[in-house]
Amino acid sequence: MVECSAPGKLILFGEHAVVFGEPALSIAVDLRVRMRAERSSAFEVNGESINRRKYRYIKSSIEEVWRGDPIAFQVDTELPVAAGLGSSAAVTVSTLGALLQLQGRFNPVSIAQNGFQVELKVQGNASPIDTTTSTHGGGILVDESAGPGLLWSLSRNDKKWFLHDCPLPELNLVVGNTGIKAETGPLVHNVKELVGGSRVVRGHIREIGRITQQGKAALQEGDFSLAGKLMNQNHMLLNALGVGHPSLEKLISACEGLSYGAKLTGAGGGGSMIALTEEPEELAKRIRDAGGEPYVVKYSREGVRLEV
Ligand code: PMV
Repeated sequence: MVECSAPGKLILFGEHAVVFGEPALSIAVDLRVRMRAERSSAFEVNGESINRRKYRYIKSSIEEVWRGDPIAFQVDTELPVAAGLGSSAAVTVSTLGALLQLQGRFNPVSIAQNGFQVELKVQGNASPIDTTTSTHGGGILVDESAGPGLLWSLSRNDKKWFLHDCPLPELNLVVGNTGIKAETGPLVHNVKELVGGSRVVRGHIREIGRITQQGKAALQEGDFSLAGKLMNQNHMLLNALGVGHPSLEKLISACEGLSYGAKLTGAGGGGSMIALTEEPEELAKRIRDAGGEPYVVKYSREGVRLEV
């Protein structure tokens, strides 16, 4: 039996634009998925058939790296599902970690590579940001060329993503889950259609890329006021890509006066928002009063890890 855990993630800047090759910045958070795997007489998860739709990331991970006997998985998660906190990436990464360890070939580069393939297969379109952040932990900058802190690069068709370790200071972030579940695949697909048909929308994508670079520099310099303004700008551009939702606006408005800035995080369409603040507990209360589910999260330097 092996047990492997992996963290969720938050995208601070650049979601959606990253699918088109623009930079994005994410962090791993201190909420994890724990996956136990042992040889068994049938492939199953928490005693249920692996063919259930909700287990498709686990099934696809098996197809990617496993040729042996059936495996029974037991999964526990601290992450809300389909809320923009990377639960599918953490499930994928912890499953791959467990399966590779059972074969004596656990290593982060293979997990990140195979994790990206699994997300592509399940979602149709994806960037490697979620799976790399869950694998490596800490801050991750995805960029279109190699720079300091390069971890690995991953490509698909004519696109190549360079994934970097990106040190960041301690950040006080509060996540507000709207409770509205939205799947990443269709949202990414809709943005792709919009981008294909409009030069203005392509301009928004490039502008998000510029904001991401400025946001990374502001955070690294500890200029949280500027970082917050850039988060607000990034959010407006995400709304212009059609991935906003009234429930997100409600939670973001509730943060006014208590945060440096706020934006949706992840795929949008519901899901979660994040706010950068000095007063996380007070802000969490405001989010709860506005009908959201708050999570005060800490930045986690630890990525995928074997537990036993
Ligand atoms: O699936 P989520 O909500 O964790 O966010 C995915 C981020 C996107 O940029 C929308 C898609 C991707 O694969 O990069």
